[in-house]
Amino acid sequence: MTTPLIEVRNVSKHFGSVIALEGVSMQVYAGEVHCLLGDNGAGKSTLIKTLSGVHKPTRGEILLDGRPVVFESPRDALDRGIATVYQDLALIPLMSITRNFFMGREHVVTKGRGLFRRLDVKKANAIAREEMARIGIDVRDPSQAVGTLSGGERQCVAIARAVYFGARVLILDEPTSALGVKQASVVLRYIAQARARELGVIFITHNVHHAWAVGDRFTVLNRGRTLGTFRKEEITREQLLEMMAGGRELEELSAELAEFARADAARAQREAAVEAEVAAELQQELEETRHFAEEERALHRQRRQSQVPE
Ligand SMILES: Nc1ncnc2c1ncn2[C@@H]1O[C@H](COP(=O)(O)OP(=O)(O)OP(=O)(O)O)[C@@H](O)[C@H]1O
Ligand SMILES: [Mg+2]
Repeated sequence: MTTPLIEVRNVSKHFGSVIALEGVSMQVYAGEVHCLLGDNGAGKSTLIKTLSGVHKPTRGEILLDGRPVVFESPRDALDRGIATVYQDLALIPLMSITRNFFMGREHVVTKGRGLFRRLDVKKANAIAREEMARIGIDVRDPSQAVGTLSGGERQCVAIARAVYFGARVLILDEPTSALGVKQASVVLRYIAQARARELGVIFITHNVHHAWAVGDRFTVLNRGRTLGTFRKEEITREQLLEMMAGGRELEELSAELAEFARADAARAQREAAVEAEVAAELQQELEETRHFAEEERALHRQRRQSQVPE
């Protein structure tokens, strides 16, 4: 068995008398998309905030690469490769894509010395443009304000930034909830790309379609407790939805399930179409990535055998 990138063991978090989490355990491996699901107030955000250094658990522990860790702050967690993209993003709409991309990391690409040391805008622009292009978003002018991008593209800027600066665990809190179908698919594709790069992705969403399109495993929270972690082969979408709704009235739930099955047929169909499209594209991308990796390895072997210097 490989060691999980990150793991929570028996974590509880209490806010005074409010029990936000109780005895939750979960493992996230490199190269998986782990969906964290649950109704409003289930404890999803609290769980990822304890993973990203915002909260300290009341009980239980966090393990990074199999070793217990205590994160002193979000910065501390980030420095150890755990990057969180919140729904409200912490991007500044009036600032350029590049400025946002390098925010807090301006020291990485600088020119000049001493007092004249400053962000090398030209270089930074090139990197920002290249990183966005890698995920299929063509930014003609990286000096344009982030506010001019679509919601999906903005999410992608935030994610691209995290990946570029070496995140190993990528935590996404409802990245697709405010987006239309097409924009959501942009983000979903990017999530799958992060997986192909061997990141461990924790993807929080209310949308079972979105979870299903990219998820490998699913952990469902209900009123602060976990209902378990399931591999995609072990469960159906309907069962997931049922678990997510867990605490609610049965009637309400069956109404929702009926709606889910019946209509808004149009919307469900559209979403299903996107889901299928994304799934097919992802499959192809995955194969291409594998193929590419194999070719690289073969090339490497060849080089080594023929002793040609690289
Ligand atoms: N700082 C806090 N102080 C007190 N109670 C809190 C705090 N943060 C969260 N809670 C409570 O903990 C519970 C879990 O909240 P949390 O935000 O983790 O839910 P969630 O699953 O992310 O919900 P949503 O889907 O609505 O975002 C809620 O009852 C919430 O009111
Ligand atoms: Mg939340």
